Amino acid sequence: MQIVQTIAELRSALASRGRPAFVPTMGNLHEGHLSLIRLARQHGDVTVASIFVNRLQFLPHEDFDSYPRTFDADCAKLEAEGCDIVFAPKEKDLYPEAQTFKVQADPLLADILEGHFRPGFFTGVCTVVMKLFQAVFATTGGGVAVFGKKDYQQIMVIRRMVQQFAMPIEILGADTARAGSGLALSSRNGYLSDEQRVQAMALSQALKTLADAARQGGNLAELEAQAMADLRAKGWEPDYLTVRQRSNLLSPADARSGELVALGAARIGAHAVNGQAGGTRLIDNLEF
Ligand code: PAF
Repeated sequence: MQIVQTIAELRSALASRGRPAFVPTMGNLHEGHLSLIRLARQHGDVTVASIFVNRLQFLPHEDFDSYPRTFDADCAKLEAEGCDIVFAPKEKDLYPEAQTFKVQADPLLADILEGHFRPGFFTGVCTVVMKLFQAVFATTGGGVAVFGKKDYQQIMVIRRMVQQFAMPIEILGADTARAGSGLALSSRNGYLSDEQRVQAMALSQALKTLADAARQGGNLAELEAQAMADLRAKGWEPDYLTVRQRSNLLSPADARSGELVALGAARIGAHAVNGQAGGTRLIDNLEF
């Protein structure tokens, strides 16, 4: 496995290697990421993973500085999975000057849900993904990129970006990897205490309960409010628990049929510290 740091090194490592299958990550890899690598290996001639904690997608009060950086362990896991190339740029390699040109995502899709609670998040994600795609695919004439469906809105935003900019890149979504309890695997699960890890299964359970109730009919806004209240009663601070259409993430007129997804984001162990929400913020979703 080759480890490269600059865009130039990456491009020369990719020369004559065929069609890349690319998995962008922020490192601290777990089984969920490794399942993306396995999927990528089935769809390209050369498998590339990037490890880069992207400052642009963190709000000032978020965990950019404390985000776990576990480079050596990540590389060992990637090598064991048969990844061919790791692209691990330093900040100066990806952003040699202030990144003043940014990719502004469609607000209809990006200013709701995660974008509402984390303003600027999708601008940061789209900007780095555009740059990573240029690094990996500009000299290869395109390829495949793999993202986890746990970040449901993120994949939708990236698919739209690729489509609108006519980029020759196929986006594959991989099913969410889960612990036996149902908890979606996430790098931020590392922030949870043992006790919280057990309690954390309540988020996926709440989404299942909401999806089942929505299918039965009834007032969706009331069901969503009830789901939030139930989670709050368990000590969580939910940002949203909601049922949306899979096609555009808007509320359905009737949740008894159609291709829907229940999405949730909530803080576990939330207690306000100096007016800032505390705890660990987890997200999850369930297609139904
Ligand atoms: O999903 C992530 O880990 C990040 O948002 C991504 C796509 C690697 C961009 O920094």
